[in-house]
Amino acid sequence: MTGQIPKADLHCHLEGTAAPRLIRKLAARNRLEVPPGLFDGDDRFAWNGFPGFLDAYDRAARCIRTVRDYRDISYEYLTACASEGAIYVEVFLSPDHAAEAGLSYAEHLAGAIQGIEDAERDFGIVGRIIIICVRHFGPDSAMKIVDAMVHDPHPYVVGFGMAGNELAYECADFAPAFAKADAAGLPCTAHAGEVAGPESVRAAMDALPVRRIGHGIRAVEDPALVAELAKRELLLEVCPGSNIALGIYADHQQHPLPRLLEAGCRVTLNSDDPPFFDTSIGREYARAAAAYGFDDDTLLGFTRTAIEGSFADDETRAKLLSRLNNFMGHSPNAEGQP
Ligand code: ADE
Ligand code: ZN
Repeated sequence: MTGQIPKADLHCHLEGTAAPRLIRKLAARNRLEVPPGLFDGDDRFAWNGFPGFLDAYDRAARCIRTVRDYRDISYEYLTACASEGAIYVEVFLSPDHAAEAGLSYAEHLAGAIQGIEDAERDFGIVGRIIIICVRHFGPDSAMKIVDAMVHDPHPYVVGFGMAGNELAYECADFAPAFAKADAAGLPCTAHAGEVAGPESVRAAMDALPVRRIGHGIRAVEDPALVAELAKRELLLEVCPGSNIALGIYADHQQHPLPRLLEAGCRVTLNSDDPPFFDTSIGREYARAAAAYGFDDDTLLGFTRTAIEGSFADDETRAKLLSRLNNFMGHSPNAEGQP
């Protein structure tokens, strides 16, 4: 049973954590029509393939309109994670999506922060924010986001990242935006090697000051690249449920997670967009345990790697590690990743 294992999620998109039930509720509250064709039945999003998923994501996000909506989504997501044993979650927040819904950078941030504070007060779960740009919205939009982030810092905003369609633009086009975030002391991550191959991971590593790669799984197709990822200790935010739902791999047996681990890469387990992919952070741990026979020490190793690789400040990470150590009873054979 993996329910008791302390967990951490470094890769989930806040707008993508809202289930159809919540999207319907927000649409009604905001007196909006639910976008036609968004759902397939009561509690499923309807989408087909990666571009179809991104489109459904964008249309669902348009129902999220107010500071209170952002507060409720972050509170509900963190509450659900806490009920599955998560102690730490880093959520991706997209000012581009908020702007499309008519909210300023400061407004959507204020909502998410309120949800994070309320969830920590009620359930002890710690949340932090990574501001992301959306690759297919282009480098100008990315720079505007970094400008707002640097102009309006907050201690819960701990990093900068890039999601969206990795087939759009070149990574190097985003180098000025990432350089500005990096110079402001904000560590960076970028989605790469999810739908595109190892060359996309290489481009992100070479062009951007990233400490982590979102997904990065298709690096497995290039053994030299895998060796370099391991050597440079770049953390891979791996989301098996998402990859399988998107058809990148047929099932857990085809998924490269165990091979990346064996090659010495730093790997974490993450939920990405839970209701779109029929997953949650708890299910990711449970399914990885069932599929690969991981024992509790291995699962705790994922959590340790996530906390060590999180972008939270030193004090927050030390507190989280001490919670993990308390759970483990300082077990000598549970010191980290195998
Ligand atoms: N935005 C939300 N989920 C995403 C994913 N899996 N890949 C790229 N962009 C995303
Ligand atoms: Zn993602």
